Amino acid sequence: MDRFYTSPELADALVGLTTPRRRALAIADFACGEGSLLLAAERRWPAASMIANDVSAASIASLRKSRPKWQVAGSDFLNPRSVRASSLRHHFGGVDLVLLNPPFSRRNRQTFEVAVGDEVLHASIAMAFVVNSIPFLRPDGAILAVLPDGCLVSKHDEPVWRSLRKQFNVEVIRDNSRSAFQGVRARTCLVRMTKLNARVSVAEQVAAPFAPTISRGRVQMHSRKVVTPRQGRPLVHTNNLLNGTVTNSGEHVQGAVLSGPALLFPRVGLVTPGKLCVLGAGRRVTLSDCVLGVACESEADVDTLRRMVLAAWPVFASAYRGTGAPYITLERASMVLSNISAGGRSLVNELPSEALA
Ligand SMILES: C[S@@+](CC[C@H](N)C(=O)[O-])C[C@H]1O[C@@H](n2cnc3c(N)ncnc32)[C@H](O)[C@@H]1O
Repeated sequence: MDRFYTSPELADALVGLTTPRRRALAIADFACGEGSLLLAAERRWPAASMIANDVSAASIASLRKSRPKWQVAGSDFLNPRSVRASSLRHHFGGVDLVLLNPPFSRRNRQTFEVAVGDEVLHASIAMAFVVNSIPFLRPDGAILAVLPDGCLVSKHDEPVWRSLRKQFNVEVIRDNSRSAFQGVRARTCLVRMTKLNARVSVAEQVAAPFAPTISRGRVQMHSRKVVTPRQGRPLVHTNNLLNGTVTNSGEHVQGAVLSGPALLFPRVGLVTPGKLCVLGAGRRVTLSDCVLGVACESEADVDTLRRMVLAAWPVFASAYRGTGAPYITLERASMVLSNISAGGRSLVNELPSEALA
């Protein structure tokens, strides 16, 4: 996806995801190509100053000609020395809005060293563009990005997202059609990252935000190998999630073990309140690849989490998307559960018990 430029429609949709408060806006795209994203921003905020960067000398030369008012740089954004040597160095801490459709392709699965807060991590190329943009943001700045689904769910980028979520509210706003980019079929989505409010409320100080650790099952049902109870653990598939409890499939398989107490729910398919199931303390199971599980410290915690999700059911259910069978990604599940638990603490206490049955 190195050279797949964003269509004006998709670029307009992306810039429509924010309403910056400042009047004199500085907007940047550090992999700008032909400038589609900045052009969309210019249509929306004609007075904003535009900062464009791309490693391609041809793209830069053409933009310098066609957009003489833009501040155009030609750095390699993955190379800090190149960035510091370019005119981008004048914009650290001064950008209100970063727009990105970074290169996606991961030739040789190459990763890039990035610094998030005080951690040094390794990121995919798309993720590295996101992380390297952060030092340019103003304290209330935001990032809007077209990202490959892979970047949101890959094991590799998971620690980077975890770290980013300490500083940002990360929202996957929508899935793009697979034909959004001419000449390639790619799963992509629009992501909005806004800085977490510097003002910390009293409630947040006493109760740290819930950052769920979600396990995804790996056993594929069509190729599962059933073993004896002594050789494996009970298999849990979506049809074992019934009326809030985890039923026995009668099959045992080998694979990663999830221990209760935990909250299980489907990753794929129709999700109903009854499919939100409690795995009791002490039960040790192996999940099919259609099931997700959140391990909790106590049964009381699982119960509270289940109540919160039920209380915010439309929000949770809307995180299942997709053109075919609806599905939820690990990233979306983590975000929706964090959001629900952040907003739901007081709700749970107020709910009548019949609403939770
Ligand atoms: C997928 S295109 C997107 C272009 C534009 N943002 C858009 O949405 O149409 C990615 C762009 O990243 C640029 N690029 C690739 N590697 C880069 C790097 N290391 N530093 C800066 N730009 C890079 C490519 O030249 C290409 O123009």
